Amino acid sequence: MRIIEAKDYQDMSKKAANILAAQVILKPESVLGLATGSTPIGTYEYLADWCKRGDVDFSKAATVNLDEYRGLDHDHEQGYYYFMNKHLYSKINIDPSRTHVPNGMEPDPAKESARYEALIRSLGGVDIQLLGIGHDGHIGFNEPNTHFDVDTHCVDLTEMTIEANKRFFASADEVPRQAYTMGIGTIMRARKILMIICGEDKADITAAALCGPVTPEVPASILRFHQDVTVIGDAAALSKLPR
Ligand code: F6R
Repeated sequence: MRIIEAKDYQDMSKKAANILAAQVILKPESVLGLATGSTPIGTYEYLADWCKRGDVDFSKAATVNLDEYRGLDHDHEQGYYYFMNKHLYSKINIDPSRTHVPNGMEPDPAKESARYEALIRSLGGVDIQLLGIGHDGHIGFNEPNTHFDVDTHCVDLTEMTIEANKRFFASADEVPRQAYTMGIGTIMRARKILMIICGEDKADITAAALCGPVTPEVPASILRFHQDVTVIGDAAALSKLPR
């Protein structure tokens, strides 16, 4: 695992965007695994800017997102497809038919989970998976005590995650109670992992994930068993790592 300390959010975002851009330059048909949330917004801004300048060409790339709320369609402003379209897809020259997010409107969770997993496989697997981390160590929507070997599935969200995500909704009552997520098994099959972490409020969970025991209680801790992980954190997020 490589741990890179960034000066601040901007620096973290630029370093992460550089790694994703390099991936697409070296392999134009890359499959990028992407994340939503506050952390990657700056990374997407750099990628959009560099694409506009003609420095990165996404025309042959494909994307698969980690997760989507169950019950929200592509046009729902709090849905993750909408987020991705707003922050990235609409700003780069990617073919929209090659941008994938779990279908939150599929009523049969087993069917949608199997479809998404098969889709990832049919694309040849994820070349690089971008991840954030939740305050409880979740990656995607894999909450504490999820089995490490599961594939894409439908989860019940914890109160902590509903609380953390309510900032995007009018109230906590409006946050969906379930979501589709790539499983930890799916995430671990990505050829490379790029985790970005920002802020003092993530310092404890970052130390637990990167230096504590590998345990399902801290889902992100499993990444230490992946062969190619890069973590980029700002100084505040990395402040509790042993020096
Ligand atoms: C988002 C996702 C989540 C977030 C995590 C951190 O697609 O899968 O695991 O990465 O909740 O969110 P932020 O970046 O908002 O702190």
